[in-house]
Amino acid sequence: MSSRKKVVLLGSTGSIGTSTLKVARDIPDRMELIALAANRSVDALVSQVEETKVGHVALWDEEAAEQASKRLGSSVNIGSGEDGLIKLAQLPEADMVIIAIIGTAGLRPALAAIEAGKDIAVASKEILVMAGEAVMKAAKKHGVNVLPIDSEHNAIYQCLEANRDRAEVSRLILTASGGPFRKLPADQLGDVTLEQALKHPTWEMGAKITIDSATLFNKGLEMIEARWLFQTPMSQVDVIVHPQSIVHSMVEFVDGSILAQLSHSDMCFPIQYAVTWPERVANSLEPLDFAKLAQLDFEAPRVDDFPALRLAREAGETGGTLPAVLNAANEVAVDAFRNRKLSFPGIWQLVEAVMSEHTTITEATLEQILEADAWARTTSLSRLAAGS
Ligand SMILES: NC(=O)c1ccc[n+]([C@@H]2O[C@H](COP(=O)([O-])OP(=O)(O)OC[C@H]3O[C@@H](n4cnc5c(N)ncnc54)[C@H](OP(=O)(O)O)[C@@H]3O)[C@@H](O)[C@H]2O)c1
Repeated sequence: MSSRKKVVLLGSTGSIGTSTLKVARDIPDRMELIALAANRSVDALVSQVEETKVGHVALWDEEAAEQASKRLGSSVNIGSGEDGLIKLAQLPEADMVIIAIIGTAGLRPALAAIEAGKDIAVASKEILVMAGEAVMKAAKKHGVNVLPIDSEHNAIYQCLEANRDRAEVSRLILTASGGPFRKLPADQLGDVTLEQALKHPTWEMGAKITIDSATLFNKGLEMIEARWLFQTPMSQVDVIVHPQSIVHSMVEFVDGSILAQLSHSDMCFPIQYAVTWPERVANSLEPLDFAKLAQLDFEAPRVDDFPALRLAREAGETGGTLPAVLNAANEVAVDAFRNRKLSFPGIWQLVEAVMSEHTTITEATLEQILEADAWARTTSLSRLAAGS
């Protein structure tokens, strides 16, 4: 079976969004973009519409949507706000909705897509961290697939194969580059500057995820993401540092065999796999040349110096509202660090303080999770304002 998938792309102007356009250019027989959405990047969105000729767009920001409307004219349907995104996510002709919005704004559009019977491909790890249980339950109920775009989870998805019995799996092993401070002595982490944290050794990504990679919160979020995507207990989710970012993750089976997925560190690989799954198709991406790979290294993460992994394990094991609190406090902390209002270690200190203050609801409804998210943001901001 081969088909040309009609794809809605939410978050088209970001790093994952622009890589998705590249994939669409590379495999035009298999993929057609039919709708694009962003927050407020009008110029970028308008030029993407000119290229892709999509008939539907949405901008979260109303003013930006008005500007886009003036520039694009009546041949394109333009929506705004959450409703605008939800309409795109439920377009009758769509086969798949890609969620590549930074943060949690993609949660309701993702749930709306699922309710409309669309497969979703998720880059926005924050929504799975926050509400992974609800998203996976909804997907099961409506019989739709949730394809991971995050390279680690995409790798695990590939290693697990469809319908692999989970009882045969003993561990999911997420690889981490270790970030730019992998070798920095613990007593120098307090001096880390924003510019240093924004220099990722192996991946080119948006600013928020780049800072998360430096603190290792990115890997912490991915541990919780894996827990929900693959319905695996946190005790079976491990992390290993692999500075070259060539092995994207591994699955260990009960017989001791380990399967890994390898490729260059280019998000076009996992994006294409999510779009063409369950098939594989040829593309113009550069394959790995083993003879040119100098070496592949692995080492244990520095959990004591980078507490993000410990905090994420605690949040993932406890479940309920705690992962949403970790995620929201981290978003506020990263924002404060980017505005030079918080030190680098201040990021995990703030997250830990807000998590300790939270009374977790373990069997939480989606509303309670959203309330916990809002509570964590307000509490983090008050702590920042009070300088604690
Ligand atoms: N970059 C990577 O390599 C990578 C790898 C794995 C996973 N991820 C995950 O993918 C997601 C996107 O990351 P990124 O690096 O691509 O981020 P990014 O470069 O910062 O782009 C974010 C995108 O989201 C859009 N956006 C933000 N708020 C929105 C809203 N309320 N409504 C609609 N659109 C909104 C932005 O639009 P504007 O341009 O208008 O602001 C932009 O298109 C994140 O969850 C990240 O963790 C990224």
